[in-house]
Amino acid sequence: MRKKIVAGNWKMNLDLAGSQNLASEICSLVAKNPLSGLKSAPSVVLFPPSVFINGVSTIVNDTPGVSVGAQNIHQNEKGAFTGEVSAQMVASCGATYTLIGHSERRSYFGEDDKLIAEKIAAAFKSNLVPMYCCGEVLAERQDNKHFDIVKHQVETALFWMEKSQFEKVVIAYEPVWAIGTGVTASPRQAQEMHSWIRQLVATRYGIETANKTTILYGGSCNGQNAVEIFAQPDVDGGLIGGASLKAEEFFTIISSF
Ligand code: 13P
Repeated sequence: MRKKIVAGNWKMNLDLAGSQNLASEICSLVAKNPLSGLKSAPSVVLFPPSVFINGVSTIVNDTPGVSVGAQNIHQNEKGAFTGEVSAQMVASCGATYTLIGHSERRSYFGEDDKLIAEKIAAAFKSNLVPMYCCGEVLAERQDNKHFDIVKHQVETALFWMEKSQFEKVVIAYEPVWAIGTGVTASPRQAQEMHSWIRQLVATRYGIETANKTTILYGGSCNGQNAVEIFAQPDVDGGLIGGASLKAEEFFTIISSF
């Protein structure tokens, strides 16, 4: 069975107290869930701002099935990169995952496919699970180029890996036009892209690996639409932005399988 994950990307929100409160509310809801501890229960990953990773990881440590990740890492291990944070640093604060290639990093910070591949390699060196984000912008979908765009993103960022390494990666399909807009992809649109990504993986690494690959959907996913999206056969959970900042709603999403 594929691993199911519901992840919360808190982006640049909250402060230390707010992050810790949200983490403890989420943990107590997860701990009370009758499904918690079962193999079929989704794993929960929280992505606070880096400065709060340590504070949040001390809270989630006691709750099985809840982990913490970084929203971004630098591609180098250490050195004169003022203001940056390395994979090893976030790992030493308790992170076990890292987002890589989020569309906000691509568009506001100019991250390209080559840099993204370097960041993925850096994540592996520190034993972080890379959660690789891909997805087309609106104009690309309107021009019917979305399958080609996602194919290129997935191939350049991921397909240089050995199979054993690739099997550790989580993919998140986040159509950029759906992020923070309130316009979510329809369940059919999500399914067809997830199935396309799985076919690409099968072509490169074989069907067995493809069937084991966790592919999450992100983009205006919320407590109302998660059930229908998660019911799609190739959708293995979600990467949630705005709706992950409210513990009850995030828990509704966690419970939507
Ligand atoms: P929203 O859920 O706010 O659309 O954000 C999605 C996202 O970017 C998660 O990484």
